[in-house]
Amino acid sequence: MEINFEDKSVVVIGGTSGINLGIAEKFAQSGAKLAVASRSEKKVDDAVNLLSKHKHNAIGHAGDVRDYKVVEEIFKKFNEQHGEIDVLISGAAGNFPAPAMGISSNGFKAVVDIDLLGTFHVMRSAYPYLKKPGASVINISAPQAYIPLEFQIHVCAAKSGVDMVTKVLAMEWGKEGIRVNSISPGPILDTEGMKRLAPTEEILNATTESVPLKRIGTKIDIANTAMFLSSEHASFISGTVIPVDGGWSLGGASSLTSEMKKLFQI
Ligand code: NAP
Ligand code: COA
Repeated sequence: MEINFEDKSVVVIGGTSGINLGIAEKFAQSGAKLAVASRSEKKVDDAVNLLSKHKHNAIGHAGDVRDYKVVEEIFKKFNEQHGEIDVLISGAAGNFPAPAMGISSNGFKAVVDIDLLGTFHVMRSAYPYLKKPGASVINISAPQAYIPLEFQIHVCAAKSGVDMVTKVLAMEWGKEGIRVNSISPGPILDTEGMKRLAPTEEILNATTESVPLKRIGTKIDIANTAMFLSSEHASFISGTVIPVDGGWSLGGASSLTSEMKKLFQI
């Protein structure tokens, strides 16, 4: 199956590290024009340098998805430089493990504002510039969206909202030929998310053991799915949440919390 994104315009919000940068790299390798954004100027500069090693010079802007005006401005600038958007990936997120009573109002709000409100800001600001028909929009979700995990009350609340944003927009924007989907990665190697959720070797080993395929996922696993989902081979797929997790969400995910209980001495 050949998948080609030669000269297509791809925007990855939160695309300066980890899983999202992996997705951006994969699209850049296939000849796409990349635009990335996140809070840190340095991370944006580093990602732009990395992504510009391929066919097109990448562009980037620093900004916080919690600030609607900033997000609007970022999309305006991207449009001036790269034109209408063929593929939009929205993956900015925050996470830390903590029991509900260990999370302040502001801690809960920080994660909901980045993950959920931020996703809405990105969707609303991108809409005028999405290719109609033809754009593929992907929100990066998580198994916490549909599995209640202890120590993740804020992330569960935020990511379940993200998947509903995906589904509602797939309905509202479908008539304009825009497809909207979520990818739900399982535990992914060498990422900030895994460093936070599996900070000890014991938790990492228990997590690996709890994945039916007996391995931790890679950034390439997620990038390949994003590429397929944005290609014409997926032209009838919209409004779905695709787990890319080796079967982890079928039941293994809860072992993560039993290990974390030891960490929090609960
Ligand atoms: P990561 O490297 O920390 O990626 C998060 C990205 O979002 C970074 O580029 C970060 O850059 C940006 N970001 C954070 N807060 C932001 C804000 N307020 N405004 C704008 N950008 C912001 O973590 P990751 O583990 O690869 O996670 C990437 C995505 O995959 C997330 O959506 C996460 O929920 C999801 N996921 C990860 C795993 C996993 O195993 N790692 C599993 C399931 C789902 P700045 O710091 O520069 O802002
Ligand atoms: N346990 C409990 N509360 C925590 C916490 C932890 N480990 N880490 C942060 N918080 C709380 C803070 O105490 C603060 O609440 P307070 O004002 O009542 O004290 C609140 O969260 C916000 O923290 P702050 O550092 O001011 O927020 P920020 O906006 O700068 O950062 C975070 C947002 C907390 C999500 C930060 O971890 C982040 O930027 N993460 C991005 C990277 C990431 O998480 N990657 C993995 C994605 S899966």
